[in-house]
Amino acid sequence: MTDRRHFLKNTLAAGGTAFLSSFVSLPEKKLLEINQESLKKSPTELASDEDFWAQMKQAYTVSPNIINLNNGGVSPAPKVVQESLSRLNAYSNEAPSYYMWRIMSQGKEPLRENLAKFAGVSPEEIAINRNATESLDTIIMGMKLKAGDEVILSKYDYPNMQHAWRQRELRDGIVLKWVNLKLPAEDKAELVKIYQEQMTEKTKVVHVTHMINWNGQIMPVKEIADLAHSKNIEVVCDGAHTFAHIDHKISDLHCDYYGTSLHKWLCAPIGSGMLWIKKEHISKIYPLVPNDTPLSDDIRKFENLGTRSFPIEQAIGEALNFQYTIGNERKEARLRYLKNYWATEVIKMERTRLNTSLLPNFSCALAHVGMDGLEAGEMESKLFAKYKVHTSPTKWEALNGIRIAPHVYTSTRDLDRLLDGLQYLAKL
Ligand SMILES: Cc1ncc(COP(=O)(O)O)c(C=O)c1O
Repeated sequence: MTDRRHFLKNTLAAGGTAFLSSFVSLPEKKLLEINQESLKKSPTELASDEDFWAQMKQAYTVSPNIINLNNGGVSPAPKVVQESLSRLNAYSNEAPSYYMWRIMSQGKEPLRENLAKFAGVSPEEIAINRNATESLDTIIMGMKLKAGDEVILSKYDYPNMQHAWRQRELRDGIVLKWVNLKLPAEDKAELVKIYQEQMTEKTKVVHVTHMINWNGQIMPVKEIADLAHSKNIEVVCDGAHTFAHIDHKISDLHCDYYGTSLHKWLCAPIGSGMLWIKKEHISKIYPLVPNDTPLSDDIRKFENLGTRSFPIEQAIGEALNFQYTIGNERKEARLRYLKNYWATEVIKMERTRLNTSLLPNFSCALAHVGMDGLEAGEMESKLFAKYKVHTSPTKWEALNGIRIAPHVYTSTRDLDRLLDGLQYLAKL
């Protein structure tokens, strides 16, 4: 008991307040040893501490037999999040309208505040919804644009967002100006110039993806936004892949509009997302699902979806707690370490091409590798058939290969198996 109190005091003092709740399934003594030592390490030192991260896996219920390296598509929720979701769901089904609308609804504003604090913005600018597609489509479809207005975007932006812009082109006669990105890119100034070249007097919006999903390219959103603003152009940022992945705040990006999924890197329940709109722009965006005051400046006008899952929304709070438990810096350092672990080996292999920069400013966990003579689909299916390593076959524009996206529960042993698999592919 004395030891336990001593541990609690030390842990709290060191800022690791949530370790207990997240790792409750571990024997207490083991927990004590791991955390006391690990809390003394810097994020970079901790990144390669395999014993520490092995415990992280215990917080998840991931398959011990299949190695999931497609966490970019959607990430698993840790046990605490799954349990919270099941609990809330069970309550909801006791008397849905009572538990959801009278009890759980009271958690809505605290959740908004917690998300806003984590994102470094005002709660009055945050709407909670179901995914990045819903957030970004709300912005794209809700903007007042007229025939001839120009929007700059890239063929590497996410297809759903391209669809939304193309629908506006078809319906409203806006003009889409496509930048020609060559990936991977490692020169911020050059990237900004590519966007600048498309800007004209008619440009109203630049759409930019913070981390390009196909190969993990990080884009200089802030620099592009600063330039755009100097020409009275607004900026929409797709943050689906950087929220709770790269240690940053939305406010660092200098954009005007932002959408993200919370079921990707935050590990919130599947079907959760977040929209952010700078306060001064809220009133001019029409909601996708209208309420009675579509031009109000209350961000809640974007939450008029009708009946939806309150348990999913409320369990986002548990995912946020879990994120704080790990710590943004620790998480980013580990994810970066994992990417470098396999990618620095892959570049030595025959036939393989790494299509992602290894420079810290231009990538983090997510990367893409191709192999001469093999199609994306073949790489993915052969790797899975023999090694049971699940990746994402990615053939898009100039990219042809597989996308590898580990998460905090991934071990270097998992990545050794990936490397064995890639060696096998290289010899086919
Ligand atoms: C860059 C990017 N934006 C948006 C999305 C859409 O996310 P969701 O399917 O959660 O709406 C994705 C999904 O992978 C993505 O990679």
